[in-house]
Amino acid sequence: MSAPLLTDLLAVAVQAAREAGRIHQQYAGRAFEVRSKTTFSDLVTEVDALAEAAIREVVAARYPDHAVLGEEEGQQGDGEYRWVVDPLDGTVNYAHGFPVYCASVAVEHHGQRLAGAVYDPTRDELFTATLGGGAHLNGAAIHVSATASLRAPALISTGFPYDATERRFMGPLERLLAGGVPLRRPGAAALDLCYVACGRLDGYWEIGLKPWDSAAGALIVTEAGGLVSDVHGHPGPHGEMLVAANERLHHELLAVLRGDG
Ligand code: IPD
Ligand code: CA
Ligand code: CA
Ligand code: CA
Repeated sequence: MSAPLLTDLLAVAVQAAREAGRIHQQYAGRAFEVRSKTTFSDLVTEVDALAEAAIREVVAARYPDHAVLGEEEGQQGDGEYRWVVDPLDGTVNYAHGFPVYCASVAVEHHGQRLAGAVYDPTRDELFTATLGGGAHLNGAAIHVSATASLRAPALISTGFPYDATERRFMGPLERLLAGGVPLRRPGAAALDLCYVACGRLDGYWEIGLKPWDSAAGALIVTEAGGLVSDVHGHPGPHGEMLVAANERLHHELLAVLRGDG
């Protein structure tokens, strides 16, 4: 069988993310089941599961031999192509009716990301990227900001762990706050990345993300001209901390996060 075209992979990612977003909105503001997973604050709803099932159905209909890794059901299949799926990113927001959440769908080949789609159904915003094909918001090309220093000032976002014993973010957070840098904690990692990609944010960092949080968003940032790395500046698997920023700011942000800036 010949290799799937990037445009076909993206079309399926878009269809899957939109279908998940349709399900989010179908249940938004209505009664749905909510429970805790690893800690009291790590929520999951029945909508997470419904959205993941819908995404898996869309992918399987087109690519039955591809593997799928989803947050709620884990990995199924072991093909050379793998879809990495966050069916509802921002579940705590969603469960409270705080309208910052999305669906994130990426596809990789032997670990290399080829295409990704992040859909925010509350704003009808679809962020997309293909490897080498640039990044887009609702079809229009997007680019990271040109902000060159934290004191410009830059607008930076982050996220906090569900596990209250995880304190490693405190040092970096304190240093940024002490430096007076405007910070946000929107609550949906995939959207944080997309907002870096389109210049609404200048940078984003978080400790302890999972592959489904960043798979699509990281491709969207790099295709929008940004850098995504670990805290030492290495691209690829992000270890404990993921840092995304425009190219001009990335170095300075890394230094402050490490504590040597
Ligand atoms: C979470 C969100 C949040 C981030 C957490 C993620 P979920 O994903 O992206 O912003 O701070 O690290 O786990 O559980 O809502 O899909
Ligand atoms: Ca979750
Ligand atoms: Ca997530
Ligand atoms: Ca999720």
